[in-house]
Amino acid sequence: MEFNKLPEITKALACPSSGQSLQCVTLEEAEQEIGGQFTPLREWREESEEKEPIGSTDRVLIREDRQVAYPIVRGHPCLLFPEVLTEKEEKRHINLEDPKYDEAYEEMSHYNSIGYERAQNIEETTIHDIVSPAIGVGKEKRKSFPAPKEVWIDAVYDCAAQWDSFQHLSPVEGKRLMQLGGSGTHAVKFLLAGASECWVVTPMLGEAECARALAESAGVEEDLHCVAAVAEELPFRNETFDGIYSGGSLHHMRTEQAVPEIVRILRPEGKFAAADPYRTPVYALGTALFGKREPNVYCRPMTEDRIAPIRKYFSQSEVIHHGALTRYPLLALSKFGVESSLSLTWRANKVDDFVSSLVPGLERWGSSVCMLGIK
Ligand SMILES: C[S@@+](CC[C@H](N)C(=O)[O-])C[C@H]1O[C@@H](n2cnc3c(N)ncnc32)[C@H](O)[C@@H]1O
Repeated sequence: MEFNKLPEITKALACPSSGQSLQCVTLEEAEQEIGGQFTPLREWREESEEKEPIGSTDRVLIREDRQVAYPIVRGHPCLLFPEVLTEKEEKRHINLEDPKYDEAYEEMSHYNSIGYERAQNIEETTIHDIVSPAIGVGKEKRKSFPAPKEVWIDAVYDCAAQWDSFQHLSPVEGKRLMQLGGSGTHAVKFLLAGASECWVVTPMLGEAECARALAESAGVEEDLHCVAAVAEELPFRNETFDGIYSGGSLHHMRTEQAVPEIVRILRPEGKFAAADPYRTPVYALGTALFGKREPNVYCRPMTEDRIAPIRKYFSQSEVIHHGALTRYPLLALSKFGVESSLSLTWRANKVDDFVSSLVPGLERWGSSVCMLGIK
């Protein structure tokens, strides 16, 4: 994001802990206003295992009450409360083991290093491969989003859930959308499909950097904004977005906190969609036999309890399971190097959906779940 665009986009932002508005200023201006120095609020000792606070940056987002400010790293507002800056000398313990921060902070180094590395050479990455079919088709043809599936659907083993999600959010033309969690592939696709503005919200600055590089490569960087934040404390004003998509990321969040936040920042009748893994009775057996899909990070597939906030906070909601019979066998094959194609998993999902509709209760064994909501 260009620095000169920051003041304009700041209108949509709010302090993640108080909801107050923010203003983009230079550190010098901010410190002149408070007559002091902005330093991290979070107590940190060199010998501790905790991640060191980011600290002050050349530009900051100062809060309406002038009590605190947030850093801006490489043009990305960092609106994670544990990174907040204060003029007070007294430091405070901010518990990074609080459920709303624990997973994000624990996995930050992992995702940041991948993200920064990808950003340096974006066109050589698998992330770029995901959006290149959409870059390759003409503007007119992009209007049929999300069809054809070969252009827009990339989650091979969760293709039906991703398709349902994209259908739910369509048409995207002229809309202000958000990708919640991840490296920006979906946000870039939405922009290519005609969304007027798209935001990537991730706790990982490396992913934000990757998203920007991807948007630049696709020629849509003008309309993409990235913010470092957790879903449990979304740093936006109420009723800001027309739609929010979370692909493979909702299961990393505390849904009891994240879902009311998502609903709050959606406009009336705004739409939410997520495609994630679901914990079926054979999940434990599958991971014991074949291991997790991503060994270095947490994976807590969705359960009925974790889906419950979607049913509770949206005025309309729908939960669709896919892949009861075929997803695990296909994933198991992939562990042995036999990757399935999109067309194969697509057809397998059609068979699954048909059989599951005939056998009562079988649908719940579908380990790929699509969660839809309308505010
Ligand atoms: C397994 S990755 C999924 C990546 C995704 N499929 C994509 O499109 O790039 C899990 C993602 O969850 C996101 N995440 C983890 N904790 C989060 C939180 N508290 N709030 C928002 N996003 C979070 C991270 O951005 C991370 O990339």
